[in-house]
Amino acid sequence: MAPDAAGRGQWPFTVPCVAELLDHGLTLRRPVTFLVGDNGSGKSTLVEAIAESFKLDAYGGRLGRLYGRPDPSKTPLGEVLRADTTVAGARMLAGPRRRKKGFFLRAETAFDMTENLGGLPGYWPEDTSAMSHGEGFLAMFRSMFDAPGFFVMDEPEAALSFTSCLQLVALMHELGESGAQVVCATHSPLLAATPGADIIEVGEHGSRRVEWDELALVDHWRRYMSDPHAYLRHLITP
Ligand SMILES: Nc1ncnc2c1ncn2[C@@H]1O[C@H](COP(=O)(O)OP(=O)(O)OP(=O)(O)O)[C@@H](O)[C@H]1O
Ligand SMILES: [Mg+2]
Repeated sequence: MAPDAAGRGQWPFTVPCVAELLDHGLTLRRPVTFLVGDNGSGKSTLVEAIAESFKLDAYGGRLGRLYGRPDPSKTPLGEVLRADTTVAGARMLAGPRRRKKGFFLRAETAFDMTENLGGLPGYWPEDTSAMSHGEGFLAMFRSMFDAPGFFVMDEPEAALSFTSCLQLVALMHELGESGAQVVCATHSPLLAATPGADIIEVGEHGSRRVEWDELALVDHWRRYMSDPHAYLRHLITP
């Protein structure tokens, strides 16, 4: 991705990873890219703008359809960002509109979509409003991730169990292999372990590419799983 122009000094350009994007751009080198980082580090700000650069509405939903708002305005970052994708991604972006596929799972609207869109033409056949939170998400993913295109997700793990997260890893990997471009913000070390994915860690430093093994996220989980008390003793007095 590379910005065209920007009004610095105000949000979102004050968020370190967004400021860095303005200075250095961000190229999606692999079919599947994860954005990881603490709460408030700028992941959603980035994925919403990336979705817009793929011509998806930042509010969430399918390519070419507006979900829940008649008059979408772009996010401030989306206004200045253009896509710098993999070769396959560039080919898809330039392709005919009717052949373009894409879906943006936005954290804030995803549950609402499973409640309201099941059975509607162009979405998924199942009545996801009658499913559990995680069942509905998986049904939505299985139907929407069915062809190469642009798939952007913001914390898709929110509703998913361990085994369902594994299924999502398999789906994302398959999408990547099929030539799709996938970008996913996550707090899940499980999702970030998707084979062949690029992982970008955002934070106070801006953004940097990190191997899965070296992620702060993975380190914290490893330590916590081996000894929860080492963390909890700082928070809970017996
Ligand atoms: N509409 C807004 N106006 C001003 N500041 C905002 C707005 N939306 C988000 N922010 C701020 O921008 C920063 C980045 O927010 P963002 O939602 O991108 O973080 P995040 O990495 O997705 O966090 P989380 O893991 O909690 O989802 C935060 O400091 C947040 O408070
Ligand atoms: Mg977020």
